[in-house]
Amino acid sequence: MMTMPATGFEQENLFSIMESLKYQDTKWRDGQTFCLVYDGGKEIAEVNKRAYNLFMSENGLNPSAFPSLKTMENEVVSIIAHHLGSTGDVCGTMTSGGTESILMACKAARDWGIQHKKIKGRPQILMPESAHPAFNKAAHYFGLDIVTIPMKAFRADIIAMRQAITEQTAMLVGSAPNYPFGVIDPISDIAQLAQEYNLWCHVDACIGGILLPFFRKLGQDVPLFDFTLPGVTSLSVDLHKYAYAAKGTSVILYKNNDFRRNQFFVATDWPGGIYASPSMTGTRPGGAIASAWAILHFLGEEGYLKLSQTIKQTTEEFVKRIDAIDGVTVVVPPEMSIIALSSDQFDIYQIGDEMGLRGWYMDRQQSPPSLHLTIMAGHAKSVDQFFRDLEAAILSVKTISRKLSNIKIQMKKTFMKSMPQGLVSKMIRNEGQAIRDNHGAIPKRTAAMYGMLSSIQSEGDLIELVLNIMDGIFTQKSTPISKATKDSDKFVERVADVS
Ligand SMILES: Cc1ncc(COP(=O)(O)O)c(C=O)c1O
Repeated sequence: MMTMPATGFEQENLFSIMESLKYQDTKWRDGQTFCLVYDGGKEIAEVNKRAYNLFMSENGLNPSAFPSLKTMENEVVSIIAHHLGSTGDVCGTMTSGGTESILMACKAARDWGIQHKKIKGRPQILMPESAHPAFNKAAHYFGLDIVTIPMKAFRADIIAMRQAITEQTAMLVGSAPNYPFGVIDPISDIAQLAQEYNLWCHVDACIGGILLPFFRKLGQDVPLFDFTLPGVTSLSVDLHKYAYAAKGTSVILYKNNDFRRNQFFVATDWPGGIYASPSMTGTRPGGAIASAWAILHFLGEEGYLKLSQTIKQTTEEFVKRIDAIDGVTVVVPPEMSIIALSSDQFDIYQIGDEMGLRGWYMDRQQSPPSLHLTIMAGHAKSVDQFFRDLEAAILSVKTISRKLSNIKIQMKKTFMKSMPQGLVSKMIRNEGQAIRDNHGAIPKRTAAMYGMLSSIQSEGDLIELVLNIMDGIFTQKSTPISKATKDSDKFVERVADVS
């Protein structure tokens, strides 16, 4: 077990430890990372840091203590509402991210459904398979049922959605765009369906809410997806994605105050006083609110349009060059800046491994197996290197040794499929335990692991395996990083060991 140091560290020492730790991390500043970080460049980072520092200790929970934060939050919400088709009534709050915005919308829809539609039992959310797992999380937390709607051309199948509506249905969901494939669900059809059946329609524009209106201004034919559609009840849009604000910034919008009231929480009988909180968290970091306000005002329409233009051109360049390579393909032509890269000739996870060894970070996706690319303005500088490395990666996967390992994966998969389920479960538990004992360390080459995962037929086994990995990841390692600090050589060794 790790203990608190008996005496404090020198600042110099402290920051050198943390700087060194960063070396293990993915190289997003070089344009080699395709998710998790939305890099707008150095100047934007500086503005974020200054704004965050200025309000780092302030707490948005109590607006009467910090009217500054109340003003900034309301202005941020108002700017974003206007950006997304409000003519005046749309309102909302800031939250800590897309997940919290979605949790809030689902909780509000649940309470509205129970009160206004008199839904008995567990209210249902109808959503396409591609919708973000934040909705599953909301269902898990708030006692809702998810009904998954199949996709047609990687978008929600509206006919199937209509057929799935029951008396329990509270909410219909569409994404603009969805995260795995980067295409937009038929939002106007979904919103119309919601109106027809008096249902709550939520648009998940967490990743597209900022960028899509700018793509439209740049001449792209973007379908309507926001409050210009009368059937849209709520919409989530993240500012820590394509608005480039600090992490921990999102906005949840509602058609009007009546819908938003379902989000708020009030406790009246607490000895500590009447407690009112607008969203999931209690304390609300002032730095995040300040960063969002600052960056919207720093960039303005002009700044966002310029960045959006680079993103649009870079995405088009990526698609064009992928199309020109034999063996890889985009799963579906993107409608914004997200590409799912797959292959009908090679194991795409092996290509992912080869790219990983060359410094590229891309998420592995399933159904169909693909690599995820969210394009940023910063990728404009790394596009040539990406394609040089992609060609090299494909060549490498074509070689005998990789082919052999592919055969081994196939054999293992076939073997697992023919084994009795009890034995497979035991084997998976053992593998999971080994990963847990190794502190959740995931090997550099993961193709075999992803190949195996796809052949696990029991959902229970898969969940057990992932829970074991998570246990391992969130467990303290036997040698604390700080033990090596008195001796910098040892510390470098330790970092190398971790990476
Ligand atoms: C479409 C969509 N919805 C929701 C989320 C969840 O956002 P967060 O990770 O900020 O909670 C994401 C994240 O990538 C997303 O792309």
